[in-house]
Amino acid sequence: SPSDPDLVERARVAKEKLGDKVFVLGHHYQRDEVIQFADVTGDSFKLARDAAARPEAEYIVFCGVHFMAESADILTGDEQKVVLPDLAAGCSMADMATAEQVAECWDVLTEAGIAEQVVPVSYMNSSADIKAFTGKHGGTICTSSNAKRALDWAFEQGEKVLFLPDQHLGRNTAVRDMGMSLEDCVLYNPHKPNGGLTAEELRAAKMILWRGHCSVHGRFSLDSVNDVRERIPGVNVLVHPECKHEVVAAADYVGSTEYIIKALEAAPAGSKWAIGTELNLVRRLANRFAPEGKEIVFLDKTVCFCSTMNRIDLPHLVWTLESLAEGNLVNRIEVDKETEAFAKLALERMLALP
Ligand code: 13P
Ligand code: SF4
Repeated sequence: SPSDPDLVERARVAKEKLGDKVFVLGHHYQRDEVIQFADVTGDSFKLARDAAARPEAEYIVFCGVHFMAESADILTGDEQKVVLPDLAAGCSMADMATAEQVAECWDVLTEAGIAEQVVPVSYMNSSADIKAFTGKHGGTICTSSNAKRALDWAFEQGEKVLFLPDQHLGRNTAVRDMGMSLEDCVLYNPHKPNGGLTAEELRAAKMILWRGHCSVHGRFSLDSVNDVRERIPGVNVLVHPECKHEVVAAADYVGSTEYIIKALEAAPAGSKWAIGTELNLVRRLANRFAPEGKEIVFLDKTVCFCSTMNRIDLPHLVWTLESLAEGNLVNRIEVDKETEAFAKLALERMLALP
């Protein structure tokens, strides 16, 4: 839907008033009405790197979800204040691994006698607490654009990986990019005693996958892939690695949001694409590339927005920018010092990956 012209004008005026004091980051899943005000857009990796790109900006307004704002706070100086326009913009996947559950898991691995061999690798989509746990235990963070490099690194440090919290990214990377088999992976269920695994199963595994997932990408199924191939002969199926293994296995291409955009930029006129990721991004790409004769459709027949990404809308952005312009610091995201130190260690290991 087109943005309310009055709100667009108010956002423009407030942003202009703030000038260089504000730096607005926008994740690719944000609404069009919000993304138009982003100084930079990107996938999780690019935004983590870009967050530190404007040290002179007093405010970093993060149009994305909570874990992204936390990561920006961790990677920027104390003088810079990170602001999330709606504090309810969380991520259901990140919420699937709590600090208590992960500490309990580590006890289970210790009991099984394997903790010293295990290197934690945590997806960016996790709380600062989980990132701190990861840093403390010698592990690294990864995103969907560097998961293979993170696993390569981790298997140089130890024999096993505990992958948190997205089982699908972990399994897809292990099997598709690392040549492991499905049998090398076990699923740790934090709601069951000992994760629902025996000590023997843990000792035999190479990848211990946390039982978390993204409900948005979980909607795509093998049927969605088969249906679209039937409906659109010659279609290229391009999906995000947060999709289930059977979907990724049936797809032609797999990659992060930034990869998806690059692939479509490089695609020839007349090519057809079905994209398995969040709908704001897919619709924007469909509109952008239609004039070039590229046909882009959403992989599934049902609508599939990320409801928490969508919480950041133009009214929230206007309220945030106007508040900051009036000198009211609202919705600041600030990670405590001890958590920050260990989480930063893990994030810096990611940033240093070859
Ligand atoms: P990327 O932008 O890194 O591909 O991640 C997608 C996502 O789910 C972010 O929440
Ligand atoms: Fe979290 Fe999925 Fe939304 Fe990404 S798309 S923020 S993983 S719920």
